[in-house]
Amino acid sequence: MSDSDLVSAARDARAFARAEFSKFKVGAALETADGTIVTGCNIENASQGLTMCAERVAMFKALSEGYRRFRRIAIVANTKGPTPPCGPCRQVLWEFGGDLEVILANLRRETCRHRLSELLPLPFDARFLR
Ligand code: THU
Repeated sequence: MSDSDLVSAARDARAFARAEFSKFKVGAALETADGTIVTGCNIENASQGLTMCAERVAMFKALSEGYRRFRRIAIVANTKGPTPPCGPCRQVLWEFGGDLEVILANLRRETCRHRLSELLPLPFDARFLR
């Protein structure tokens, strides 16, 4: 699957966002090691602390379906430049996905790519708990 296909999947998932409060819709598409695409969108709640970002929805869906190894994630929002993932999502993606390739895009298909290790240097993870 090309980067562009993965971005399209994230863009399609964005349409399902439940962003009634912020109006800021986000879509994510996570590629597993076997090439399966698991998507997510942000889901907000009137009790706003319960809001869940698109990236974590995608990762938690994938984990709950038994996937354990991941390659890439595409994230799409309607912003001038590509939107980077928030801090908590970086932590969760690192813990379960490792050094993923992160593809950021807006609706004009302007994209940029990062390794997750660039976005989350010096991560805290399970290694410190041993
Ligand atoms: N949001 C995401 O879904 N992903 C991010 O990485 C940044 C923020 C969502 C959360 C909330 O629903 C809305 O965008 C505004 O913060």
